[in-house]
Amino acid sequence: MSHRIFNFSAGPAMLPTEALEKSAQALVNYQGKGFGIAEVSHRGKEFEAVNDEAIARCKQLLGLGDTHDVLFLQGGATQLFTVIPLNFLHGSADYLVSGEWSKKAASFAKEVGKINTVASSEASNFDHAPPPGQWKLASDADYFHVCSNETVHGHRLVAWPQHPNLIVDASSEFLSRPHPVKDCALVYGGAQKNLGPAGVVLVLVRKDLYPKQKKVPSKLWSFKDQAENKSMINTPPTFGIYVLLEIFRWLEAQGGLAAMEKRNAAKAALLYDAIDSSNGFYKGTVSDQQQRSHMNVTYRLPSEALTDEFVKTAAAGGMMGLKGYRTVGGIRASIYNAMPVEGCQALAAFMRDFASKKS
Ligand SMILES: Cc1ncc(COP(=O)(O)O)c(C=O)c1O
Repeated sequence: MSHRIFNFSAGPAMLPTEALEKSAQALVNYQGKGFGIAEVSHRGKEFEAVNDEAIARCKQLLGLGDTHDVLFLQGGATQLFTVIPLNFLHGSADYLVSGEWSKKAASFAKEVGKINTVASSEASNFDHAPPPGQWKLASDADYFHVCSNETVHGHRLVAWPQHPNLIVDASSEFLSRPHPVKDCALVYGGAQKNLGPAGVVLVLVRKDLYPKQKKVPSKLWSFKDQAENKSMINTPPTFGIYVLLEIFRWLEAQGGLAAMEKRNAAKAALLYDAIDSSNGFYKGTVSDQQQRSHMNVTYRLPSEALTDEFVKTAAAGGMMGLKGYRTVGGIRASIYNAMPVEGCQALAAFMRDFASKKS
């Protein structure tokens, strides 16, 4: 294995080395057959088997039965911001606006139809997600859309809400803990954080939604048609789906999602401890500590100059991708499933050392 550094990028992000090595092998020579998995027809037996196994393993990891379909779509999570309302927004839909991404989802939906913002934390720069007590849900909404982990602002919904038609953008926490997908109408996320390379969107859709779909201009945007065609109305991103399969195998070998949840909580605690014990040198950006994300740890230093120095010195020490989102600044350490505990230990030690030298 070649040398790999600790990459804290928010996405595209670090992927497990074992899964990458197996994928690299399959890209060059799939199962010793003399061709790569990206070089064969998506309708041939090799790729069909990959697609079927990926669907089955994804369901197995999530404990999903026959109520939902697993789709591998394209166009990024952003495309789903439009495709979801195109299919399901008849009268009005509820949106929780808790950060940059749920705000974007709501603004795209507004282009399609009427939405009701149930609550927004924009007035406090999205430093938390509005708690359920503040939500003004409509009784007749077509669906309720939330983003379960706000990648930019570093907070998450500790528990996903209960709603008969809950739609969740889980992009930045997909498969990092067990999810109550069984109780959701639709869950989706871009692959490029926890699941694989950019270019695939994992979508879990409850089958009883299909009769409620509106007519859309193209089959490509119809969940029902995509499900009936196993996401192969046209050529799917075959290699991306292959990497997802290797990630699903890897997750199972790690002990599944409950084991990942434990490990991710322990990793996040290392960094939050370094923030909390810094005598105010590092300031977390999330006002409700309960909601602090286990995937994106966001904090600020006393000045821009120190922030720049922190990022540069960390990079020189083999820790890259720590600069906060362009509109927010500060530091963001993204510690998805593939970030080893050692990466968080190294960053926590670096934070303590940096604070002690600069305080
Ligand atoms: C929570 C969340 N939703 C949606 C997106 C948009 O994803 P994409 O760039 O795949 O459209 C992102 C990207 O970072 C995200 O973090």
